Amino acid sequence: MTQDVDTAQPGVAHTSTVPFGRPYTWVFVDDRFVSSEDARVSVGANTLSYGTGTFEGIRASWNEGLRQLFLLEPDAHYHRMEQSAHILGLELPKSSDQLTTITAELLRRNDVRTDAYIRPLFFLAEEQFPVRMHGITAQLTVAATPIPGDYINSRGVRCMVSSWRRSPDVAVPNRAKVIGSYAGPALAKTEAIHHGFDEAIMLTVDGYVAEATTSNIFIRFADSWVTPPVTDDILEGITRRQVMQLIREETGTPVTERRILRSELYTCDEALLCGTAAMVVPILEVDGRRVGNGLPGKQTLALQQRLRTIARREEERHPEWTTPVYSGDEEEGS
Ligand SMILES: Cc1ncc(COP(=O)(O)O)c(C=O)c1O
Repeated sequence: MTQDVDTAQPGVAHTSTVPFGRPYTWVFVDDRFVSSEDARVSVGANTLSYGTGTFEGIRASWNEGLRQLFLLEPDAHYHRMEQSAHILGLELPKSSDQLTTITAELLRRNDVRTDAYIRPLFFLAEEQFPVRMHGITAQLTVAATPIPGDYINSRGVRCMVSSWRRSPDVAVPNRAKVIGSYAGPALAKTEAIHHGFDEAIMLTVDGYVAEATTSNIFIRFADSWVTPPVTDDILEGITRRQVMQLIREETGTPVTERRILRSELYTCDEALLCGTAAMVVPILEVDGRRVGNGLPGKQTLALQQRLRTIARREEERHPEWTTPVYSGDEEEGS
């Protein structure tokens, strides 16, 4: 198994990019599995012009010892997708249970035996102008992409506070994981990379810390962890909820959800990012100022390992978070 090693040095840039591979051949489209070559979207699709639709990102983790692949809280992701569609005035044609079953089948068909990232999309695929949400047929697709190796970023990332702000809920609700709303994080990410950082931290329009481009943020002062409230234009992350629970279990102290000032990013003792793709990532610096001693935080690294082993069911804790993909009857590589 390959794994990133700890080589953190303050002031040294690290890449924070999850090493996604090429997408798997089989994809699910509406009601059937097709080859990705047959899964095509028209250039006239409404969503391509306007970003009308929503998506999810789900993790599957491979356990080599058990020869088993585990989905991490697929039901929670599909429940969020249902809510996102509801916010957009759309209705998912399938239940969370059905979508979890379809996702497991998709992974089996692709004979996935490595970590993987699953991308469900629900979008306005019909060739229809002008911009609106109603009266256009939506399409549901699920695709998967390998995350080669046992990727984990324990070296940490250097962040800048972006000049781009989160859209307020009254403009584009971030809670709905709207396809078009990711133009903002894309601008912020590129700005950060062009300035020599790994990741961007975005503020709300009125200047409070919201989140990074595709992950939520936590900071620690002495014994207390703090994270922005759901009302500060964040995506209500599923990893965020898991991390809150693990912190409570590990430290006995609940995480405080409250507004965070930009300058608190400079004075906290420890900071981390968390999300489905990257899991838990230590923050080393913000805007050129060291966080704590500038090395990956000890509690962060412990949380990272804890979530990693839970996700691949290498330990007893929270088996209810993981769903096995293989029944054990399948022949490998068939
Ligand atoms: C903007 C944003 N914030 C936070 C997250 C983390 O959410 P989750 O832990 O559910 O993946 C994501 C990833 O989906 C995201 O896109």
